[in-house]
Amino acid sequence: MQWAALLIVAGLCTLSQAQYDDDPHWWYQYLRSQQSTYYDPYEPYEPYEPYAVEEGPAYPYGSPPPPESRDCPQECDCPPSFSTAMYCDNRNLKYLPFVPSRMKYVYFQNNQISAIQEGAFDNATGLLWIALHGNQITSEKVGRKVFSKLRHLERLYLDHNNLTKMPGPLPRSLRELHLAYNQISRVPNNAFEGLENLTALYLQHNEIQEVGTALRGLKSLIMVDLSHNKLRKVPDGLPLALEQLYLEYNNVYTVPDAYFKVSPKLLYVRLSHNSLTNAGLSSNTFNSSSLLELDLSYNQLQKIPPVSTNLENLYLQGNRINEFSISSFCTVVDVMNFSKLQVLRLDGNEIKRNALPVDAPLCLRLASVIEI
Ligand SMILES: *[C@@H]1O[C@H](CO)[C@@H](O)[C@H](O)[C@H]1NC(C)=O
Ligand SMILES: *[C@@H]1O[C@H](CO)[C@@H](O)[C@H](O)[C@H]1NC(C)=O
Ligand SMILES: *[C@@H]1O[C@H](CO)[C@@H](O)[C@H](O)[C@H]1NC(C)=O
Ligand SMILES: *[C@@H]1O[C@H](CO)[C@@H](O)[C@H](O)[C@H]1NC(C)=O
Ligand SMILES: *[C@@H]1O[C@H](CO)[C@@H](O)[C@H](O)[C@H]1NC(C)=O
Repeated sequence: MQWAALLIVAGLCTLSQAQYDDDPHWWYQYLRSQQSTYYDPYEPYEPYEPYAVEEGPAYPYGSPPPPESRDCPQECDCPPSFSTAMYCDNRNLKYLPFVPSRMKYVYFQNNQISAIQEGAFDNATGLLWIALHGNQITSEKVGRKVFSKLRHLERLYLDHNNLTKMPGPLPRSLRELHLAYNQISRVPNNAFEGLENLTALYLQHNEIQEVGTALRGLKSLIMVDLSHNKLRKVPDGLPLALEQLYLEYNNVYTVPDAYFKVSPKLLYVRLSHNSLTNAGLSSNTFNSSSLLELDLSYNQLQKIPPVSTNLENLYLQGNRINEFSISSFCTVVDVMNFSKLQVLRLDGNEIKRNALPVDAPLCLRLASVIEI
């Protein structure tokens, strides 16, 4: 009798994983009565995987407001068609609602939440995504162990908050960490310890003065954005798999010799709007054969630094360069040896237009844009 009553409820709202966990017998009966809508409970059923966009995870607009599930907090929406997601975004919340244990995706963005109290996610250890961007969370009010028990967490969105310190300890399962637009000033060397699956790290628009060796051991890291901070030095050691390094708008004045050699897959390096001078660079700093794009615009360079013949885009506008040295691009020029450079920007420097060397067309034979 009891499960018959539950069936009626189940007809209104989609089955939740929690119900299955509580009573497998009931689940079996339910499946038999619902042959046509059968799905394998052992296959995670996630009909809707929200996309990652710059502003954070998407929201399924267009569907009518669903009936609330029994355990859904009053101030949130828990769509029956996606029983592992809870939407509490954009509703002036001042505190974090309770998170039922069946949840995998929770959305709290754009509220006025200032604290993540100890134990906030203790009943939801299956969480995969937590969106908390656009709130007023301060470091003092983040419980010390709120994230560490979330052994499946893959994405944590904390951008646009009032954090002054790195949160942690963080779960080792993390794949994306979004911490942009906070007031973090320090990244301790052990900040990302054990995050073997971290692929993207967003730390732009903070007040970071130094990164130390924190990035070194991140063996899956592909992208790190540290732009718009207060770095005077580049991070001490790069990860092996890194492809994109964004350091624009800092105060970096030097890059060590062979700095990029440890990252043989590095494709894009942005160092514009820093304080680089030629004295702070060794002759082969940027001569790294994997690089496709190098942005060194708006620094204080007086010479074109030597680059690899594989480089395709080089931005040097807004420096103090006063000579067009073709040897920075080609040490040998012949039928087989030439630069793959396509775009070269040298405008806003001290080079005269007629300074293009005679052997430039031979070396830069693939160039489609050269601005002087
Ligand atoms: C988690 O669930 C248990 C039992 O369902 C309950 O007693 C406990 O208060 C819950 N924890 C939190 C933090 O709400
Ligand atoms: C967070 O920062 C904003 C902007 O600086 C400020 O208005 C707000 O009061 C801060 N909130 C808290 C809880 O500190
Ligand atoms: C990292 O990802 C792999 C493959 O998806 C997974 O097997 C492993 O458990 C993850 N590591 C952690 C610490 O979660
Ligand atoms: C870049 O390094 C290679 C060796 O790795 C060297 O042959 C080449 O001349 C260098 N390029 C420049 C422009 O110095
Ligand atoms: C010039 O091209 C030849 C043939 O591709 C190559 O073996 C040699 O290393 C090149 N020299 C330089 C300095 O790039």
